[in-house]
Amino acid sequence: PKGLDALAQRKRRYFGVAFDVNRMSDAAYTQLILAQFGQITAENSLKWETTEPSRGVFNFTNGDIVVKTAQRNKMSCQSIAPLRAHTLVWHSQLPSWVGNGNFTKKELISVMKNHINNVAGHYRGVPYAWDVVNEAFNEDGSFRQTVFYSTIGEEYIDIAFKQARLVDPKALLAINDYNIDGQGPKSTAMINLVKNARKRGVPIDQIGAQAHLVVGTLPTTIRENWQAMANLGVWVAVTELDIRMPTPANATSLAQQAADYKTVVNACLAVSRCVGVTVWGASDKYSWVPEVFSGEGAPLPYDDNLAPKPAYNAIVQALKA
Ligand code: G3I
Repeated sequence: PKGLDALAQRKRRYFGVAFDVNRMSDAAYTQLILAQFGQITAENSLKWETTEPSRGVFNFTNGDIVVKTAQRNKMSCQSIAPLRAHTLVWHSQLPSWVGNGNFTKKELISVMKNHINNVAGHYRGVPYAWDVVNEAFNEDGSFRQTVFYSTIGEEYIDIAFKQARLVDPKALLAINDYNIDGQGPKSTAMINLVKNARKRGVPIDQIGAQAHLVVGTLPTTIRENWQAMANLGVWVAVTELDIRMPTPANATSLAQQAADYKTVVNACLAVSRCVGVTVWGASDKYSWVPEVFSGEGAPLPYDDNLAPKPAYNAIVQALKA
């Protein structure tokens, strides 16, 4: 084995990446993904708009391609965690037939359960973990007013996790969110939700910290915060790491980014229940960031030409230390 995942495995972690069918035509990039990473998350292909574009019509074409790639990768990298499946219940990339508010509570529960039955059922036994519920919170720790929350209430989360456990009992079930890296109201809300849900017997096994971060502005309490999550008895996974900066990058920003990557990887290594790190893409040329934050980008360990950046070397150093 070689690459970042092999180094991570020596620390009983995995090192993963978001990847998808639309990147597979880039042979050099695909080769890099397979050589360096031991875990794949489909960047888009397992989202609701793709898997159930109209009610009861399921499409697993692209999802299956990503899953087969991850399974092949497992064999070459001996990875402990070849596939994280993202995501079952999320307000974004949700087809309008679900999100338009036309369903009663009872109907939407049935729509949600049917989605989980079919999607998690199709992949039963394959993913190491499912992101069952994604981005349930606002920044102040209140519940985001999604169609699921507004129609069903807070219990949509319990229902989704219980259904996912029934359908794919071997997978770890995760609740995933961004800006829960350092301590703050959103992290506190996540910790309270998971603590109380588990008391009620709701099968939440893992908290996913997306870790979409900004160079030079990392929270100072990442390790303590992830440790507090782990202390609930759940696993912690760093699920979508990237660290963006104003573009174009320069030597100073690249050096700060390297230091920031090291901080995040070290935080995961310091928390024994932190199972691994997934970067949200490998090369800057395929990052979602520039489309969403104008004037920002270059958030990943490889540059536009697939050359490793200082951030890559920093990850290697952290994993080797
Ligand atoms: O599939 C269409 C294609 O047919 C069309 O030609 C093209 C034109 O723009 O758009 C394609 O869809 C895009 C899709 O990615 C697939 O590439 C959407 O416009 C685009 O909005 C979508 O962005 C994704 C974004 O989630 C949507 O919310 C990003 O790739 C993906 O990286 C990003 O990932 C999210 C995680 O799921 C959750 N956490 C935050 C993270 C970053 O936003």
